[in-house]
Amino acid sequence: MNVTAIVLAAGAGTRMKSEKPKVVHEVLGKPLIRWVVDTARQAGAEQIICVLGHKREQVEPLVADDTTVVVQLEQKGTADAVAVCRTAVSEGTKSVLVLNGDCPLITPQTLTELVKARETSNAGVAVLTMEAPDPQGYGRIVRDAGGMVECIVEQKDCDEVQAAITECNSGFYCFDASMLFEALAKVDSNNSQGEFYLTDVIQIARESGRAAIGVKAEDVNECLGVNTRVQLAEATKILQLRINHAHMLDGVTIIDPDQAWIGPDVVLENDIEIWPQTFLAGHTHIGEGTVIGYNSRLIDTQVGAQCNIYETVAVDAIIEDGCTCGPRAYLRPGAHLCKGAKVGTHVEIKKSVVGPGSKVPHLSYIGDATIGEGVNIGAGTITCNYDGVNKHATTIGDNTFIGSDTMLVAPVSVGSDVVVGAGSVITDDVPDGALALGRAHQVVKEGYKESLEG
Ligand code: UD1
Ligand code: CA
Repeated sequence: MNVTAIVLAAGAGTRMKSEKPKVVHEVLGKPLIRWVVDTARQAGAEQIICVLGHKREQVEPLVADDTTVVVQLEQKGTADAVAVCRTAVSEGTKSVLVLNGDCPLITPQTLTELVKARETSNAGVAVLTMEAPDPQGYGRIVRDAGGMVECIVEQKDCDEVQAAITECNSGFYCFDASMLFEALAKVDSNNSQGEFYLTDVIQIARESGRAAIGVKAEDVNECLGVNTRVQLAEATKILQLRINHAHMLDGVTIIDPDQAWIGPDVVLENDIEIWPQTFLAGHTHIGEGTVIGYNSRLIDTQVGAQCNIYETVAVDAIIEDGCTCGPRAYLRPGAHLCKGAKVGTHVEIKKSVVGPGSKVPHLSYIGDATIGEGVNIGAGTITCNYDGVNKHATTIGDNTFIGSDTMLVAPVSVGSDVVVGAGSVITDDVPDGALALGRAHQVVKEGYKESLEG
């Protein structure tokens, strides 16, 4: 199928009462417009065009990599929004899907069916319709005696009979590409809103002898648009449960599906346990048999098999098989825990490798460090990686023992099989196998209390 999807996202979304354009708002860690773009891709659209306008500089970076961006300078209506894409649509396109950038619940299956319905019937247009529980505000579907769509009438243009129709326009369409742009050229703005309505294409298509069919959505939720922050929360809840149910049926234990938020691009392997208050987003991948939560937030993080991740925040981190993390660990971008490593309580790791089986169990900051295998980092150890201007590296060799409360003043290198005494401030490199102590000598004055009392 040669399908181009046009995603309409030029509007402001004033009801969000936000400085951000509506389609930038996120559901489960993913902007609204990305949901629609990714769904169009999954439905088989080879080309995706995003129509941007209002505050487009905030939207464009989200879609510029994998879609064609077309700018609609003035929002003159949905027909105009599609018309500005005319020269951007690839040659040879058979079907044009038109999607709303604020409808994140639509599924690839429904879009594929819409395209199929149009192509097999050779209709000029297939409209996805819905039985709206509250039709207020939607365009009404008027069908002819043969069940074909005769026209769509906007709420504001409805007479009494039309207003009573409950079948509504979802705003999703599939058009015959060869007919669409010719028809759009004939759309005028003679209506109550003075806008160019995309829905007028239906009558124009019929006048030129092409049929318009209505495909009713099985699940009306798929058509739910986000206009307010209440609807943003409703969409989040529906998608949260849709995703969680799919994972559970696929072999993931989720203790309370209302208290786990898992993004659509997260990959979970078999036999994972997700405990409450856990948020997994971005391109996070979790391996078999791993336990995550309570209170964990993992974003774009790779976790291996058989790990225990408790109360952990991780962003852009890698955690290999058999690691333990938390409670209360913070893995910042570039943190890499090798096989069997342990990062414990109140530990922050940034842009550092913790070698296989190495442990950073308590109260530490490790930044810009490379730690070898089998290393033990004592409680309270800090890599002093920043001199106020530049960041510097720390390296620690295999099987080294760093005593508690050590300051490693970078750049510094500590060899393998080293012992560093507790409370040391290490400013100079330490060779393999050495003992390093960098602390003041203890002074003991016996009988001091007595001498005070005279
Ligand atoms: C539209 C339909 C209506 C349908 C409803 C479903 C028309 C005339 N009406 O109405 O039948 O029931 O969607 O939600 O199409 N946009 C642009 N540029 C513009 C105008 C709109 O990009 O010039 C974008 C908006 O950002 C939005 C989408 O198109 O994402 C729909 O526009 P909107 O104004 O919300 O249309 P509705 O009045 O809701
Ligand atoms: Ca709308």
